[in-house]
Amino acid sequence: MNTRSVLVSFRQAKNAMGLYPQEHPAVVSGVLGTLKALRDTMAESDMTLTLVQGHLYREREPQPHESLEFSDLLAGLRGAGIETVTFTAPVQVNDLRQAIAFSAGLSPDPPEQSVRFNEHPYSPEDLGIADDDSPRVRYAAAMDTLKKAMLSVGHDDRIPMADATVAVERLLEVTVAQPAAALLLATLKSHDGYTFYHSVNVAILSLAMSQNLGMDPEASKTLALGALLHDVGKARVDAKLLNTAGRLGPDEWAEMRRHPQEGATAILASAAPGQEFAAVVAFEHHARYDRTGYPLLGYARRPHPFSRLVTVCDVYDALTTRRSYRRAESPTRALLTLAKGAGTEFDPAMVDLLVSMVGVHPVGAVLELEDQSLVVVTAAPNTERIEALLVQTASGERLTTPEPVIVDEKRVVEQLPADIVDVQPSEFLDLVG
Ligand SMILES: [Fe+2]
Repeated sequence: MNTRSVLVSFRQAKNAMGLYPQEHPAVVSGVLGTLKALRDTMAESDMTLTLVQGHLYREREPQPHESLEFSDLLAGLRGAGIETVTFTAPVQVNDLRQAIAFSAGLSPDPPEQSVRFNEHPYSPEDLGIADDDSPRVRYAAAMDTLKKAMLSVGHDDRIPMADATVAVERLLEVTVAQPAAALLLATLKSHDGYTFYHSVNVAILSLAMSQNLGMDPEASKTLALGALLHDVGKARVDAKLLNTAGRLGPDEWAEMRRHPQEGATAILASAAPGQEFAAVVAFEHHARYDRTGYPLLGYARRPHPFSRLVTVCDVYDALTTRRSYRRAESPTRALLTLAKGAGTEFDPAMVDLLVSMVGVHPVGAVLELEDQSLVVVTAAPNTERIEALLVQTASGERLTTPEPVIVDEKRVVEQLPADIVDVQPSEFLDLVG
C-alpha cells in the first residue's frame, strides 16, 4: 500500500459523495476504503501531503507520478483552498468523512482532529523548488492544454491553438534530447481520463516517428498538433458513450463516428494559417489505408501520410491501454495486431516504422524472466542484451529502488501488460537517460 492507493480511494469517495447521499453504500465503502488505505500506508506514524505548484509531496518526498496521475483531484483540492493534509495516526472515520465532504464542497467546516488541512509543516524551500522543465511537467502541461481544448470544443469556443503549439514544441524538445525518456513517458496510462493521456501519448509517439523519418521541426509540430487534437471531437459526443463497458449499439456507433468530423470542424474554426493540417489528421484518423473506414463511406484517395502515421500511433497506444471493455495488450501483441492490419487498415510503411522504432521489447515494456523476476526495459532499440531495471526479484519482492540490469534476451519468458502486474513504467523516468 502506498500514497497512490490512498489517492485512488480518496478520489472514489469524493466522487461518490458528489453523487449520492452520505449513507449510500458507494459513499460508505469509499470512506472505509480510504481509511483502510491510510492505515495500511501510515502504520503508526503521521503523514503530511503537501501541494506546491501542482506537485504532490509526502513529507519531503516528491510524488511525481501521483502528481500527474491525480492532477484532477489535486486541482480540485487546491480549488477548495487545501494545500496540505496532515493525517495523525490513528485516523478516525468521522474526521476522514468530514475531510472528504469539505474537499467536495459539501461541508463548510474543515476537519479538526486526526485529519487537518493547511498546517504547512514544510516550506517550498524545504521541499526543493519543482523543476518545471522536466519531461513529466511538460507531459502534464500538454494534458492540461488538451483538457482546455476539449472544454472549448464542448462549449463551441475556439481551441487555444497557440497553447497547444507551445505544448507540442515542448514535447518535441524532449523527444529530440531524450528519445528513450520520451518513449517511456508515452507509456503513462490511466483508466480515468483515458482520452487525455492517450492523446498526449499519441502526440509523443508521432513526434518520435517524425524524428525517425527525419522530418523538419515545423512539419513535426504540425503533425503533433494533429496527433494531440485528433480526438477533440469527442467533446461533442455524448459522454456516456465514451466509457460504455459493453459494445455500442448501431445508434451509439453513429453518434461515436461523428467525432472526427466534429474535431476537424472545431480545429478549422480555431486554426491559424499553417495549422489546418491538424484538422486533416483529426478528420482522417479513422480512415483506413484501403480507403474504407469513417466518417466518409468511400474515400477517393488514401488518407494523408500524416493521418496514416497518427492512426498507427493511435491504435498502438489504445491497444496497450486497459479499457472498460477489454484488457491491455503487451506492446509486442499490439505490434502483431498492427502488422496483421498492414496493407488494409494501416499503411504498411508506417507499421514498419513503428515496429523498427519501438523494437521487439520497447522502452517501458515489462518483461518476465525465466526466474520469474520482472524487469522494465529502459533503452531502445533492443539488441540481444536489453538494458532494464529489476523491479521485482525472483522471490517476488517488489524493489522500492529498482536496480539497473543488463538482460540476455534468451532469458525473457514473456512480455506482460504493465497494468496486470501493477507496474507504472513511467515511474522510472528519472532513472532513464
Ligand atoms: Fe478517434
